[in-house]
Amino acid sequence: MYDILLMIHFLSLGAGLGISLTMFVLGLQAGKIPPAEFGPMMGRIGLAMKNVAIAGIALLVLSGIGLVLVERSMVEQGGSFFHAKLVFVAGVVIAFTVVQVNQARARRGENPPGAGRRAMIAGRFALASAVIATILAVMAFG
Ligand code: HEM
Repeated sequence: MYDILLMIHFLSLGAGLGISLTMFVLGLQAGKIPPAEFGPMMGRIGLAMKNVAIAGIALLVLSGIGLVLVERSMVEQGGSFFHAKLVFVAGVVIAFTVVQVNQARARRGENPPGAGRRAMIAGRFALASAVIATILAVMAFG
C-alpha cells in the first residue's frame, strides 16, 4: 500500500511540476505576443489544463497524507524539514487556488487583463513553493 501511494505521490508531483513549468515558460512570452492574442491564448491553455492540474495537486496532497497515515513514523523521521515542507505545501495549495479563482474571473470577463496577471503571478508562487517543498522533502527523507 505504501509503495502504491509513493508511486502516486511521484507521478502527481511530475504532472503538477510539469504543468506549472509549462505555464511559467509560456508566461515569459507575455512581452513578445500582442496582448489581444496572449490573453485568450493563456486562457485557452489554462482551461485545457485546469482539470489535470486540479487532479494532480489533489492526488499529490492526498497521497502524501496517505503515506503518513499508513506509516506514522515518517513524521518523526522527516523531522523539522518535513514540517517546513508542509508550510510550502500549504503555499502551493493557496497559490494554486488564487490561480484558479483569477482564471475563472478572467473567463467570466471580470477585468481579464488584471485577473490574468494575478493568475500568472500566483502561478509563479505555486511553482516556487513546489520546488522548495520538493527540496525540503529530499532533505527530510532522502
Ligand atoms: C506540494 C506538495 C508536495 C510535494 C511537492 C512533495 C514532494 C515530495 C518528494 C519529492 C518526496 C520524495 C522525497 C525522497 O524520497 O527523498 C516526498 C516524499 C514524501 N512526502 Fe511529499 N510532497 C508534497 C505533499 C505531501 C504531503 C501533503 C504530505 C503529508 C501530509 C507528504 C508526505 C510525504 C512523505 C511521508 C514522504 C516520504 C516518502 C518516502 O520516502 O518513503 N507530502 N514528497
